Amino acid sequence: MPNLTVGVLGAGGHIGLVQAAALASLGYSTIGYDLDLGRVRDLQKGKLPFYEPELAGLVQSGLKSKLLEFTGRVNRLKGIDLAYICTSTPSLPDGRTEILQVENAVTAVARTVQKRVIIVIKSTVPVGTARRLSLLLQQQGLSEKAVLVSNPEFLSEGSAINDFWHPARIVIGSAEPEAAEIVAGIYAPPHVPVIKTSWESAELIKYAANVFLALKISYINLVAQLCEKAGGDIRVVSEGVGLDPRIGSSFLEAGIGFSGPCLEKDLRSLIRQFNDAGEEAPLLEAALYINQRQRYLVVSRLKKSLGELKGKKIAVLGLAFKPGTDDLRDTHTLPVIEQLVSAGAMVTVHDPVLSEICWPRQMNVFLPELRWASSPYEAAEGKDALLILTACPEYRRINLVKLKGCLANPLIVDGRNLFSPGEMAALGIEYRGVGLGVETEAEVER
Ligand code: UDX
Repeated sequence: MPNLTVGVLGAGGHIGLVQAAALASLGYSTIGYDLDLGRVRDLQKGKLPFYEPELAGLVQSGLKSKLLEFTGRVNRLKGIDLAYICTSTPSLPDGRTEILQVENAVTAVARTVQKRVIIVIKSTVPVGTARRLSLLLQQQGLSEKAVLVSNPEFLSEGSAINDFWHPARIVIGSAEPEAAEIVAGIYAPPHVPVIKTSWESAELIKYAANVFLALKISYINLVAQLCEKAGGDIRVVSEGVGLDPRIGSSFLEAGIGFSGPCLEKDLRSLIRQFNDAGEEAPLLEAALYINQRQRYLVVSRLKKSLGELKGKKIAVLGLAFKPGTDDLRDTHTLPVIEQLVSAGAMVTVHDPVLSEICWPRQMNVFLPELRWASSPYEAAEGKDALLILTACPEYRRINLVKLKGCLANPLIVDGRNLFSPGEMAALGIEYRGVGLGVETEAEVER
């Protein structure tokens, strides 16, 4: 392994911190830089700003070995050989992607370094960004200082460390083959395909992959609607479809839809990229529409069973956008809970990772009436219904007899299809999932 010093910009974020900790554990001297000085101070003490399995141990051993350090001073990056840009690229209200943080990080590195560096863009950026930034460096007289490489990340929250060590492929977009070679040499396990291509192809691979996952989910959710009208169990349909190796079984779980900081943002961004190129993207628009509709289905189901929600007590299981994370960014659960609260329901929530302590302050402003429970059973105690919003493995192991005993009214609306309707019926629980056969009253409120 070459003796390289690497900088990671945006090291206080999910992608940046995984990147920095993993590079340090590979033996690279790694400097994690972030503008958020509070986060930097916490990270210097080994304290993480979010939950990600296995990451805390990796950060702490990096700090202990002195191969990993965190700083808020950009000057500290002056001796690096390579910079990884992992800053966020938020969605603007019109769907466009804000790349200002990436642009600032790229120019900051080029201005700071003493020798020519490779700047690797890990952040998800619209097609054409690396070329535009390269031109910008040229205009600012900095192109002798830096060469840009696009190397999109494919890390999923909750399994990010495993995804880092076991990538399905490594994508490297570069205008200089030598730079691509160096980036490939940093970490590429044997037998993992490495695609060396142009900046534009690399940038598009990231969007096309994430959006394809979103399409798969919306497609299966669409078929789930037909199951409810015409009969059929979407779980069986999904299994039968997914066993075709040309299709594959992952991302075919019907439910309340996708959410979180990536899939919807990337879908909106790609639609916008089509529009900016003078093209329509009706397939992508439809996927977005179906996804929005899914999240209101569960509320309409509750209303069908309970009537007026005013004064009703509802337990909600799962707050984060998916299991194994404490991430609430763009989660589907908040709009659902907001609907319940604004309809006058009293909501008690449980999440295996999140607790009241880490519930962001601003959420309490929106939802002051929210109550917290430390177990699913406590959440269910005396409630008129229980709503499952996140497919946490803990919920699959719930003791249903005990749960029924806690509920005042045995009604479960399951946005994640965790249980079998037959088992629920045998226990005397009214159970409503997504796409589990004809739902005579299951009309989505429009
Ligand atoms: C995603 C991509 O998977 C990852 O490659 C990329 O780098 C970042 O974006 P992430 O946002 O962490 O990862 O979550 P992901 O596992 O993709 O799940 C997104 C959402 O889809 C979750 O709300 C999940 O519950 C939902 N989902 C997933 C379904 O509704 N059905 C499925 O079958 C799979």
